[in-house]
This record gives sequence, C-alpha cells and structure tokens, in this order.
Amino acid sequence: MSLDYLDIALPKGRLGDKVYKLFASVGYDCKGLLEDSRKLIFQDDNTRVRYFLIKPSDVAVYVERGAADVGVVGKDILLETEPRVYELQDLKLGRCALCVAAQNGYEEEYGSMLRVATKYPNVAREYYRKQDRDIEIIKLNGSIELAPIIGLTDVIVDIVETGTTLKENGLSVYREIAPCSARLIANETSYKFKQARIEELIKKLSEVL
Ligand code: PRP
Repeated sequence: MSLDYLDIALPKGRLGDKVYKLFASVGYDCKGLLEDSRKLIFQDDNTRVRYFLIKPSDVAVYVERGAADVGVVGKDILLETEPRVYELQDLKLGRCALCVAAQNGYEEEYGSMLRVATKYPNVAREYYRKQDRDIEIIKLNGSIELAPIIGLTDVIVDIVETGTTLKENGLSVYREIAPCSARLIANETSYKFKQARIEELIKKLSEVL
C-alpha cells in the first residue's frame, strides 16, 4: 500500500467502460484509461491516483489483500466469494440478477437430484441448501447456457443482464435469486488510513448517482 497514492482496482470488460466513464465524470480520470489498449496500470500524478485494470472476478482479491485500496466489483462476485472488505456504495451500474434458468417450459422433478451448471457454486449451493434440495454442482467457467441445452445439467445458476443470451438459446429465467449491481469496496486497513480520500471519492460519486 502506498500512503501517497489512492490505488483503485477497476474491472475490465463489459462493466469496465461504464465504470471508467462514471469515475471520469467525477474527476477521477486518467489519460489513456478510456482508450482501447493492453495497459493495466494508469497513474495520475496530479490527483495522486493509480488505476489497476483487473478481471472482474479478481478485483476483490486485490482489495482484500490491500494491493488496491478501493475497487469496483459486482454484487454477484461479492455474494460468491464473500471477501473481507467494506462494501461502501451501490454504484447502480451493471444491474443484473443472479437467476436459476432452464430451457423454456422446463418443469422441475422434485424426486431426483438436480444438476446445476454455474460459475457461482457457493451462491447455488446456498440457494438450494435453504430449500433443502439435493443438487449436484457442475462448475463451468463460461458459456453456461449451453449446459441444459445439450443435457449436461437440468438448470443453470448465472447472471442475467439483458436476457439476450437466454433468449437466443431457448432458455428463460426459472427463479430469481438476487438482484446485483456494481459496488464500491474498500480494504479495511486502507479505509482507516486513507479515510479522507476514500470519503471524498464516495461523496463525489454520490453527487452523480
Ligand atoms: C454473462 C453471463 C451470461 C451473460 C448474460 O456471460 O454468464 O452468459 O453474460 O448477459 P445477458 O443477459 O445480457 O445476455 P459473459 O458475457 O460474462 O460471458 P461468459 O459466458 O464467457 O461467462
């Protein structure tokens, strides 16, 4: 942790562009951040802020371990990984929902073990544990929607944003588990030592949310 700089972990990809624009709109901007490049660190010496571009599922790892002071991460990932970080603010971006989805017209057979494909094994396990339902989790890393179509599993637990992926593959939402959106998180120690700077960021973001 550098005491001089505020280190911000931002997600790359779909959520990233929206987040960079939000930060830029409140003065947390950096030359090159909005350009398409392979660079992963941007530093603004005037405002003393560094930006790290990180795979969304890894943002909380950097923040939890103090390699970044604050970060932006989806609530879906917080629910799945339960990192020890402070969740400070709902940025109301990247709104989506964690859902159980299945092929159109699917009807659950309660007598048998339910096979569930997901990138979110902990969320899925917890959801079905509360329902006292026996499940088998098949952990996948992407293209989850394929699993029920070709009979690998009965259902999927995944995020649904626009619903396009489900629709284009003949699937639909069967149950909603939790609404999600991007959250500002902070490392617990950073929050203590850089509280003024972090509060300033929160205040500026609040003004546009
Ligand atoms: C996510 C998610 C769904 C899709 C939902 O996948 O796993 O597949 O987005 O978005 P939609 O409702 O707007 O269609 P992602 O794009 O991260 O790709 P992946 O399949 O490689 O995980």
